[in-house]
Amino acid sequence: SDPVSFYGEHQAGIVTPAQDRLHFVSFDVVTKKRDELVEMLQEWTAAAARMAQGKDAGTFGAVGGAPEAPPDDTGEALGLPPSGLTLTIGFGPSLFDDRFGLAAKKPAALADLPRFPGEALLPEISGGDLCVQACAHDPQVAVHAIRNLARIGFGKVSVRWSQLGFGRTSSTSRAQTTARNLMGFKDGTNNLKLEDAAMLKQQLWVAPGDGPAWMTGGSYMVTRKIRMNIETWDRAPLGEQQQIFGRDKGEGAPLGRAREFDPIDFNAKGQDGELAIAKDAHIRLAHPTSHGGAHLLRRGYNYVDGSDGLGRLDAGLFFIAYQRDPRKQFVPIQMELARKDLLNEYIKHVSSGLFACPPGLRDAGDYWGRTLF
Ligand code: HEM
Repeated sequence: SDPVSFYGEHQAGIVTPAQDRLHFVSFDVVTKKRDELVEMLQEWTAAAARMAQGKDAGTFGAVGGAPEAPPDDTGEALGLPPSGLTLTIGFGPSLFDDRFGLAAKKPAALADLPRFPGEALLPEISGGDLCVQACAHDPQVAVHAIRNLARIGFGKVSVRWSQLGFGRTSSTSRAQTTARNLMGFKDGTNNLKLEDAAMLKQQLWVAPGDGPAWMTGGSYMVTRKIRMNIETWDRAPLGEQQQIFGRDKGEGAPLGRAREFDPIDFNAKGQDGELAIAKDAHIRLAHPTSHGGAHLLRRGYNYVDGSDGLGRLDAGLFFIAYQRDPRKQFVPIQMELARKDLLNEYIKHVSSGLFACPPGLRDAGDYWGRTLF
């Protein structure tokens, strides 16, 4: 498979077609020295550019260095193709405290998310100073990339939490078919897509004047690990499952319509004379018309972290969404969902992250964070 370009106006891994696999990592910065942090970001950028091309993380590689030195690549991706690897960096709100003199550059849009009703967030798998989203068609390639960045960052950053995901639950291009989430529904039908240039400009990318200039061309990422109560869901009748989302399970069509991409008719009535799409159905509450036209670019993944010791799958959706301003997009949408969504009976938000993803890299001399530092 061809490599995805590491350079461009925007970072890869946002609107570039969603790959099948994810390794997401959040780091805390442990060095107190700003220079060390910047230097590490420069090393990360060079390694990331190499790995996106299917090369070793360092110039000597896994087996080309001196026998008395630890290799500058860990080796498990030797012989594997680039596999569409993208690496996307983000800066969390906590990076903008007093430690690195960045407080004045903190965007207002990076304000901590409010508490949402019903959430049960675990601090040890939430937040973080920096994050890297690695996506690839091969899990070994994604894991290799994160592992090598953590290795390079040793002593400067420490891994706070990480998450593996599979089976993208969103399509970000009309060339892709819509995949299914672990509840068995097509997920990503009404997503922002690569082809919607005008919408991306309006809804996804930070524009000049939105806030500090360093974020122009960037985007804000929200992550939510959402555990599904799989065993309860599996005992829910098909009709109820469809009512919850407001779409049918087979085709993914909005209730009252026939095909997946048919426009939603929120006024359509069923045979019983009631609304075909329930008042508190997920797609009605999340739809842009309920939020002054606010859209999200969803780019999440299914996850299964084995079983929980009580015989239940520890599984759900690792939700990732990109947007121009979370205060106008994720926050009001999630507030509405948290209060009313019929789906709430079957899910629980257990982790949360918010990150400012800077614009793309110009060329090999550029580095992650140049516009910020
Ligand atoms: C639509 C599933 C959580 C925002 C959908 C659809 C499904 C789905 C099946 C319909 C297909 C589509 O258009 O993509 C889920 C599941 C969730 C979850 C299983 C949790 C486990 C969330 C959260 C948000 C969200 C937390 C944002 C706060 C949306 C939006 C749409 C959507 C904006 C499109 C609505 C439209 O314009 O038609 N979701 N979702 N979802 N979801 Fe979710």
